[in-house]
Amino acid sequence: MKTIRISADIIECEKSELSAEDLELVKSSENFLPHAYAPYSKFSVSAAVKLDNGIIINGTNQENAASPSGTCAERTAIFYANSMYPENKIVAMAISAFFDGSIIKNPITPCGSCRQVILETEKRYKSPIKIILSSRNKCLIINSVTDILPLDFDSSFFD
Ligand code: THU
Repeated sequence: MKTIRISADIIECEKSELSAEDLELVKSSENFLPHAYAPYSKFSVSAAVKLDNGIIINGTNQENAASPSGTCAERTAIFYANSMYPENKIVAMAISAFFDGSIIKNPITPCGSCRQVILETEKRYKSPIKIILSSRNKCLIINSVTDILPLDFDSSFFD
């Protein structure tokens, strides 16, 4: 019997410490927060994904009275990007959220379903996606979703 230790390096920084490129993506996600449709939770989430051709695609959470029919910002953005630009891989994504009148104090992390979708996208394009989680001042930078989805399930199990 042995213990498997799981660890990951996640960078925590101030928004002011972000590179110009990362800050641009964060600002883009923040700009689209008003496009969220969140009448039930009142929790607006926005994701901006950057493609390898430099194009930024935005997505927000879109809720539904029948709650499972709604979707998260991350999946809105990824599915839209992959539908519009199937030849271009996603290199980075920024996620921000707004609640109770302002941008949230601490960064939110993607839900389990979104992590699984980000994983599928990384595997599909054979390329990690940098994830920048942002809040009012603080940010977390994750190099690949595999860092926050240990023991992941992917198509390799079908081999
Ligand atoms: N939500 C997202 O859009 N992304 C996340 O990573 C977490 C949660 C949305 C789903 C729902 O519309 C609202 O936030 C509250 O859960």
